[in-house]
Amino acid sequence: MGTMTLTGKGRRWLLNGHPWIYADDVADGEGTPGELVPVFAPQGESLGWALFSARSKIALRMVTREEEQPNRAFWEGRVRRAIQAREQHGLLDPAGACRLLSGDAEGIPGLIVDRYASTLVLQTGTQGADRMRDFIVELLLEAMPFEVTAVLDRSDLSVRRLEALEPRVEVLRGSIDGPVEVREEGGLVYAVDVREGHKTGAYLDMRDNRRRAAAHAAGGRVLDAFAYDGLFGIRAALAGAEEVLCLEQNAAACERILENARRSGVADRVRVERVDCMKDLRARAEAEERYQVAVVDPPAFARNKKERAGAERGYVELNRRAMALLPEGGTLVSASCSHAISRRDFTAHLASAARVSGREAFLEALTGAAPDHPVRLGLPESDYLKCAFVRMG
Ligand SMILES: C[S@@+](CC[C@H](N)C(=O)[O-])C[C@H]1O[C@@H](n2cnc3c(N)ncnc32)[C@H](O)[C@@H]1O
Repeated sequence: MGTMTLTGKGRRWLLNGHPWIYADDVADGEGTPGELVPVFAPQGESLGWALFSARSKIALRMVTREEEQPNRAFWEGRVRRAIQAREQHGLLDPAGACRLLSGDAEGIPGLIVDRYASTLVLQTGTQGADRMRDFIVELLLEAMPFEVTAVLDRSDLSVRRLEALEPRVEVLRGSIDGPVEVREEGGLVYAVDVREGHKTGAYLDMRDNRRRAAAHAAGGRVLDAFAYDGLFGIRAALAGAEEVLCLEQNAAACERILENARRSGVADRVRVERVDCMKDLRARAEAEERYQVAVVDPPAFARNKKERAGAERGYVELNRRAMALLPEGGTLVSASCSHAISRRDFTAHLASAARVSGREAFLEALTGAAPDHPVRLGLPESDYLKCAFVRMG
């Protein structure tokens, strides 16, 4: 078995609470790719156990700070506590969907598992998670309160390259024939393309934000920009919006919006246009279109700290264009999934957008992801999603 000894700086970093150790902070040691290794301070004291990557800049992802080696019962405990948390949040309805395991944020580094009805879709992004995959899936299947009919490994993430891992798509159990149907409370029914869709097929992190946005929609016109499968818009229609317009540039996603609107019984009030939102929002403002609610949920504008300046310009301009579509009393629902943009920065970008628009704007709530995507305190990288609810003056 390999072992790792940290530098003094590495030890201090770890004791400050961050669970990742960079290769430069490892003084000495050896291990095989993905191995679970004991970690020591320069003076030899035990610092716990970590999964080792032989290629990534993040050499060690801590699993525990205890001296004792994690065994089967330890990992069973990790899986069961995740399932229990979903149970407590009422997220285990067999027809519904949720994130079951949230990777580093929940102490199972590099592995996420999403559930769509009785189908599980997993993604591994590290050598350690690749090595643990089959074992954790076995524990998960034992812990689930109902039968899982299919398991798909959708490990086609670009971050795998940082770990010298090839993309991999593999059916591990059952079969995946076409989209998986999910039913959520309040009549929301949607199809998830688990093989080709974004992420594992859907943006489960936005579940609660869609409900919150829908609460502003009754009787009004709603714009859902960067709509993907249209779930913000369809939730709004189910909550009584008179008219919903979804804007999205991806052709397959546009098809699914219409299909999801049909499945949810609101096709008569949901329209879709396949457009580039940045250009389209400006044209709509020039045409003096007005909406009661405008949702803007773009892809990450900054994937790292270097891209922050460009992202700032992007967020200010996008939100300025969205604000132009909202009358006094209208609600802007504006999201950023760039983890490199902090909550404070994002609020500042919204404030700049209001200032250049010459409008007053009131931040009523700044939320994050749904609770099945917890933020691990001490791991700021897991705090990626910001969703602002802004009332326009
Ligand atoms: C973060 S996802 C939106 C998720 C969605 N709001 C939901 O709740 O499921 C961003 C979406 O924006 C789309 N997109 C990216 N750039 C775009 C553009 N310039 N115009 C229109 N859509 C765009 C992507 O195809 C993707 O579906």
